[in-house]
Order: sequence, then structure tokens, then C-alpha cells
Amino acid sequence: MRPPTPAESGGSALGSPAAGDPLLPVGLLGAPVAEALAFLPDPAERLAYAGISAGGCFARPLPIDTTCAAAARRFFREAVSSLAIPSGLVHDGVTMASELAANTLHAQRNVAAAGTRQRSAAGVPEIWLYLRGTGRSRELVCKVFDTERGWAPGNRPGMSDAPPDSVSGRGLQVVAGLSAGQWGCHLSRSRLGNWKVPGKAVWFSLRIPPAALPDHVGRPRYSPDLLVDELEVMLADRGLASIVRADLDGISVLSISRHLTVWRHGTEVSWRSPAGQYERVDLMDAVDVAEQILCAHEEMALADPVAV
Ligand SMILES: Nc1ncnc2c1ncn2[C@@H]1O[C@H](COP(=O)(O)OP(=O)(O)OP(=O)(O)O)[C@@H](O)[C@H]1O
Ligand SMILES: [Mg+2]
Repeated sequence: MRPPTPAESGGSALGSPAAGDPLLPVGLLGAPVAEALAFLPDPAERLAYAGISAGGCFARPLPIDTTCAAAARRFFREAVSSLAIPSGLVHDGVTMASELAANTLHAQRNVAAAGTRQRSAAGVPEIWLYLRGTGRSRELVCKVFDTERGWAPGNRPGMSDAPPDSVSGRGLQVVAGLSAGQWGCHLSRSRLGNWKVPGKAVWFSLRIPPAALPDHVGRPRYSPDLLVDELEVMLADRGLASIVRADLDGISVLSISRHLTVWRHGTEVSWRSPAGQYERVDLMDAVDVAEQILCAHEEMALADPVAV
């Protein structure tokens, strides 16, 4: 499904209802407005559709059988093909993606054993890859989503101390080792399909040498005003449908739910986490910011399903 544009999702004062509309009489606009519109990327270049080196998120469904690990290996290689990542690092990433994908079979077994209703076709596991960070300091984040909420929020995933002669129980140890501890798990929602299914994402990250990144990575591509539109679209596309937004003088307020309000001041985005701390992140990292806000929302929904 094509994600809705800001205009379709209700728009905002800083939205771009006219961007890309060939019928718009641009010549009739005041010069400052026409100038501003000229800086907006073509709709085909919107963040929601951008490749990972342009700041977007690569997402693919994984099979719900034992071919999921092979599919994850293939998708990982496809996703990073536009980056000149050293082959050893790609190999590590492929190995970890394969382990996380294989583990989605645990989640499916657990869901089946709990007698949960048959999941919809949209509830299949997914693999996501995107670059996290700003400037030329980036890490490649790989997440594997499944529809079992499984590990309690805030708890560390269940890495077991497999005995030396055990033939299983090592996948997460491999991930922990190859990622040098840069892995974890958080609540999330699916990205693909019409109905965004709640679940969890198990992730790892790999630091990418700046030389492996295309030259354009690190150059500002989107203005903060456009990025906040993109952030709203990304959240709406994950099923947070009743966002109320107000904008004034470079400040935006997004009321996500009764308990979650997100502030944007320039390029800084902040909100109060379920643990009561103020989170502050850079809007330029929009895909990761959306994921963090969604995680906060899901933790609150789990704690108080009536209020959200
Ligand atoms: N996505 C997941 N959802 C639910 N539980 C999981 C998930 N991934 C791992 N687990 C739990 O954590 C345990 C440890 O996972 P790990 O990958 O280390 O070992 P394993 O899958 O049992 O064996 P191996 O990976 O060596 O074949 C699993 O046995 C399972 O109970
Ligand atoms: Mg495993």
C-alpha cells in the first residue's frame, strides 16, 4: 500500500498539499512560497519511498517456514548492495539476520501454543534495514519483526547459556558476539500490509566505515519542516491514525495519544518516555525517531490499553 501523503492524512500548517500537483498554478504563487515549494523533493523521492542510502527504510516480508533464514540472507545482501560495505562486515550482517529470522519460528510456535487466533496475512515476520545516525557517522540497523510481543518491554531478550554440548541455544549468542553487544529488542508494529500488527522487533547494528557510504550521505536532503511532515506520515502509516498536530514558528506539537505528546523544536524532537524520562533525538534521523516514538506508544498501550 502506498503510504498516505501529509495532505491525505490531514495535512498541517507546514504540510505540502500542493507539492507535485501538476495542476497547481505555480506562477500565481508569491515568490517565497514558490521558492519553498521548489525545495521540496519530488514525490518519488519522499522519505517513505527512499532507499536506505537516501535515509529510507528497506522492508520485506519473511516466509513463515524454514526458508525464512535464507530469505533474510538474500534481503540483507539486496538492501546493502548500494553501500560499499567491506565483505567481512556484510558476512557478519548476513549471519546475524539469518539467526534473527530463524528465531521468528519460535515466536510463531509460541503464538500457536498460546491458542491465539490465526494471524491475518499481514501478520507475517518482516526484515527492516536502515541507516541510523547523522552526518557521516552511521550504523546499519537490521531489525526482524514478529507478531509475538514475547519479551516484556525493557527486559533483555532471552539469551540462554547453552551448555557446551548443546546443538541449539546459540543464535542470540552469535548475534551478541558479532554485533559487539549492539543488539536488543523492542515493541513495535509491522510496516507492510494494510493492517499494522503489534509485535516486537529484534535488532542488531553494525558501524559502517564512512568510506563505505555514498558521497551524498550526510548532506542535508530534507528541511526540518518537511521531515516533521514525513514523521507524521510514517507514524500514521504504522497505524497511529489519530495524531493531532499544531505548528508555530518552527515548533510542532504532535499529540499521539492521551499519554504521549511529541515536541519538535527546529531539528530536535522530544517526548516523555513511559519511564518518565525526557527523550531528545535528532529529527534528521527520522526513520529511527519514528521507530522510537512508536515503541514508546506501544509500551504505553501495553501498560494501559484503555487510555491509548
Ligand atoms: N523472536 C523470538 N521470539 C520469541 N522467543 C525467542 C525469539 N528469539 C529467541 N527466542 C527465545 O530465546 C531462545 C534463545 O534463542 P537462540 O537463537 O539463542 O537459540 P535457539 O533458537 O533456541 O537455538 P539456535 O539459534 O542455536 O538454533 C530461544 O530458544 C527462544 O526461546
Ligand atoms: Mg535461534
